[in-house]
Amino acid sequence: MTVFTRRGLLKTAAFAGVSGLGLAAMGRIGGWAAATPDPVMLRTAKIQAKLIDVGQTNNVLTYGNAGMPPVLRMKKGEPFAARLVNAIDDPTTIHWHGIRLPNKMDGVPFLVQPYVYTGDHFDYAFTPPDAGTFWYHPHCNTLEQMGHGLTGVIVVENPNDPKFDAEFVLNLRDWRLGDDGQFIDQFRPRDAARTGTYGTVRTANWLDQPQYDAPAGGLVRLRLAITDVTRIHAFRVDGAEAIVMALDGNPVPERFAPDALLLGPGQRMELAIRMPDDEGAIASLRDVRGTKPKVLATLRATGNSLKRDVRDVAPLEVNPVAEVDLGSAQHISLSLSATAQNVPSDSICGSLGYSFWAINKVPWPGDTPDPTAPLAELKLGRSYVIDMENLTPQSHPMHLHGMSFKVLSSSTRPVRPLISDTYLIQPNEKVSLGFVADNPGDWLLHCHIIEHQKSGMTSYVRVV
Ligand code: C2O
Ligand code: CU
Repeated sequence: MTVFTRRGLLKTAAFAGVSGLGLAAMGRIGGWAAATPDPVMLRTAKIQAKLIDVGQTNNVLTYGNAGMPPVLRMKKGEPFAARLVNAIDDPTTIHWHGIRLPNKMDGVPFLVQPYVYTGDHFDYAFTPPDAGTFWYHPHCNTLEQMGHGLTGVIVVENPNDPKFDAEFVLNLRDWRLGDDGQFIDQFRPRDAARTGTYGTVRTANWLDQPQYDAPAGGLVRLRLAITDVTRIHAFRVDGAEAIVMALDGNPVPERFAPDALLLGPGQRMELAIRMPDDEGAIASLRDVRGTKPKVLATLRATGNSLKRDVRDVAPLEVNPVAEVDLGSAQHISLSLSATAQNVPSDSICGSLGYSFWAINKVPWPGDTPDPTAPLAELKLGRSYVIDMENLTPQSHPMHLHGMSFKVLSSSTRPVRPLISDTYLIQPNEKVSLGFVADNPGDWLLHCHIIEHQKSGMTSYVRVV
């Protein structure tokens, strides 16, 4: 655990006066860590929030004093620090979803860090190596804590990014509220054994269909994260030309229009949207999945047209993810299945009390490694291919902590060679995901439909 002292901060502040190059050189030679910036305070709180018309919802959780958890801005290659202060009456931690960081900073209770109990704090510090859109959330009792609000978006900026006329960030999530606006049971066991239990109220940035103004004919960078615990989305943009620039924090190899693009909980998308020319014209982001398509948010054109062209958006810089060596890669088979075997659930971090799902036939107990051995032990620096097969009738957004993989092939469809941390595997699909095990530690591999994660679909790999 990193311990912040005032003296430590002053010391690093003094070094920050040295030129960046000098500091980096000193860090290498002297073995000193890079300067640690003042930590961002992330204090959990129980608040009231207005999520639907009928009035305030009680028992909403956030970081800060009011409203949605802040959008955290970091810079690629620059140190970031945050202090989690726990002011709710439930232990918690923070996981930085998609960010490749040291294992100790990954926020998984017991696997890599202790619980942060009520009144305690924990200091996180890391340097994000990749630019893109990421997010943060607890990894303790997550169905309740995330379900009640603890999900925030992270933007890692790259100074070399192309310039836009406007940028918006959308935190997409649902809430399970009754007609009176108060929370109802977070899940139903019969739904947990299927798609997961859907929320009843859908929001973008904790608002119903927010509208944002953007210059007519201008280029908008729209970043979004699905931070919901259950819902898979199929995205479309109407009323404006839109192209997908990045998915899950990494640029796409070739840009394309989001024509009912399926993304699951945990996934992110960055769009370049060319606003319509006429003042007042509306572009809308919609989820067209299922029987109740929904407008999530809209953009309204303002002023005289800037007459920009979406093809003018320069490509995003590729992130420094090691290239998998397919010639030497070792394969790991992984099957996802349903299970009827009910394991007495003694998980210490928010078990649902049921086992519905299994990875390689094992219904995993949850966020505790004990007494379960890792799914696989990987050699540091070596290439691996996970051959994952979905034997269930549901889709699963499978998320790997700590390392990014490349989507190599699928048995059911052509795939783009995306670099990602979360793959939405379809029923009966078999997919190959390649990666270099270049980050030592214990890394979770789990479904991001939280009810699946908490009822058997969580495992971990060990890199040594
Ligand atoms: Cu977004 Cu293990 O989590
Ligand atoms: Cu799942």
